[in-house]
Amino acid sequence: MCGIVGLISKENAVPGVLEALKRLEYRGYDSAGIAAENGQGITRQRTIGNIKTFADHLKKHPISGPTAIGHIRWATHGVVNEANAHPHIVGRVAVVHNGIIENFKELRAELGKAGVSFETDTDTEVVAALIDQNLTTDNPRDAVKKALEKLEGAFALGILIEGEAATIFAARRGSPLVIGFGPGGTILGSDTMAIAGIATRVCYLEEGDFAVLKSASADIFDADGNQVDREFCPLNAKATDLDKGNYAHYMQKEIFEQPTAISDTLGMYIDPLNSCVNLGEISFDFKKITKLNLIACGTSYYAALTARYWFETYGGLPVEVEMASEFRYRDVVQTSGELNLFISQSGETLDTLVALRHCKEKGQATAAIVNVADSTMTREAGETFLTFAGVEIGVASTKAYTCQLSVLAALAVAAGRARGVLSEKQEAEMVEVLSHLPSRLADVLYHDEAIQALASTLSQAKNVLYLGRGSLYPVALEGALKLKEISYIHAEGYPAGEMKHGPIALIEEGVPVVILAPTKGVHKKTLSNMQEAYSRKARIILVSDHEGIAAHKKEAFAGIEIPDVPDIGLAILYAVPVQLIAYHTAVAKGTNVDQPRNLAKSVTVE
Ligand code: M6R
Repeated sequence: MCGIVGLISKENAVPGVLEALKRLEYRGYDSAGIAAENGQGITRQRTIGNIKTFADHLKKHPISGPTAIGHIRWATHGVVNEANAHPHIVGRVAVVHNGIIENFKELRAELGKAGVSFETDTDTEVVAALIDQNLTTDNPRDAVKKALEKLEGAFALGILIEGEAATIFAARRGSPLVIGFGPGGTILGSDTMAIAGIATRVCYLEEGDFAVLKSASADIFDADGNQVDREFCPLNAKATDLDKGNYAHYMQKEIFEQPTAISDTLGMYIDPLNSCVNLGEISFDFKKITKLNLIACGTSYYAALTARYWFETYGGLPVEVEMASEFRYRDVVQTSGELNLFISQSGETLDTLVALRHCKEKGQATAAIVNVADSTMTREAGETFLTFAGVEIGVASTKAYTCQLSVLAALAVAAGRARGVLSEKQEAEMVEVLSHLPSRLADVLYHDEAIQALASTLSQAKNVLYLGRGSLYPVALEGALKLKEISYIHAEGYPAGEMKHGPIALIEEGVPVVILAPTKGVHKKTLSNMQEAYSRKARIILVSDHEGIAAHKKEAFAGIEIPDVPDIGLAILYAVPVQLIAYHTAVAKGTNVDQPRNLAKSVTVE
């Protein structure tokens, strides 16, 4: 959350910083700002609102300079107003910051006693004030370094100092930061997408790094202050990944990209020709694992909840599923032989990262399923299984989720084979199911128009219930989360069998209830629970297979038919209608689908 950029250019750096900020907008859209050093001093422009508002403002109130830093904000400390928007300037120093300075109150009090007055409610302003104070006795590099030593918490920082032409100071601890060089100049950013287009060679700063960037060089120092050589590698980000194409929203584009995304992902883990799962060389042995802990947040957590059913049933493994933010601060008793598998689209979610580091400190084995290949989690986990969803820009996760489920399904089958729970024939049958999922998923997308037709009704609802059982219960949770996130309608996902123990009280005439109920296995019991809702006059939206839809025409206000596949493929297919329901309902309500209020794509605060 929050995105930072810095650019040293031969020309005016401000347009380049603005373009880079546009690519970071998924990280926050409460306010935006740029500060530029032009040889005579630092000038700054800031506005509340998204990057478009800021770009319009900048046209009317231009600033320029060959060295500039920029920021988009997802507010943590201090309300959304112009004063709290970055860059923050104190004396000769301008700062942009992603993260949280945890000891800012103490530092503020200390600086206050020394006569510094503050203009904002942010935690960031102390960083600029500390550096500015140090400049009275130290050279700029030492002034920044000394200030960093006093900071506690998480940060990625870009710093300009008046009079220091063509120089940006950068530092990271806990928040991601990448630097790069290219014909367009020297650039830093919160991720590679931000600096794509300018940088052709990039370097991911490591935990505790401090860098002094110049127009053609970067001096990098590690956490102990030693100058280090960090590896630079070529950057191959595709500009088309960032384009909406003919779709109205990124979320819509990403929903429709799912057949390709899961095909690309499954292609890395299954071998349909030889009818087996192929994980390549991995650092752990499923046979020896005593327990699997699946740890994640939000939608990734729901992917983990579904995977629990698969790992238990097909892998014969004891499984715990943990919300990262809770797991880290419980006294979880862990024994040797456990594998801790972290799931994250961004690979930067701080709750999940902190939980991963905690496990590593305890000597536990770790692995991660991550979509962003060059993320912190990828670098820190003992083993990484990448998803190949491509860049996901919509704040509401869609294709990353189904790709996570795809990898988890392949891992569960691999676990089953390794542990002797699944036979070779059963593995082959499951691989066959998985290999056909991309085209089955394309079939589900044909229901787009039918689902759109439901949106005007759903958009009037105050509450919506989602019910499912087994591997589809977490899909019910995910459906409710998607609807809440982008349409702001209250929704709850519930295990269908649990409804009669309480939530049934919410049902009154006309309340939409989305029933995820194939006619096979435990899922068919959900159809009985549907009757309980129907007889209380709920408006039933039935998502089921051909048999289920045909048999329940009377009860269903609407029916969405999903191909009949075995359990290992169900969650991936049933995810699509709940995504489309949320998407079209939000469009009907007129909310900002790709940038829902109060949210950010990558949550890098605890
Ligand atoms: O990048 P991560 O998968 O670690 O993100 C976890 C959650 O923040 C994320 O899934 C969030 O719940 C999404 N907004 C869901 O649409």
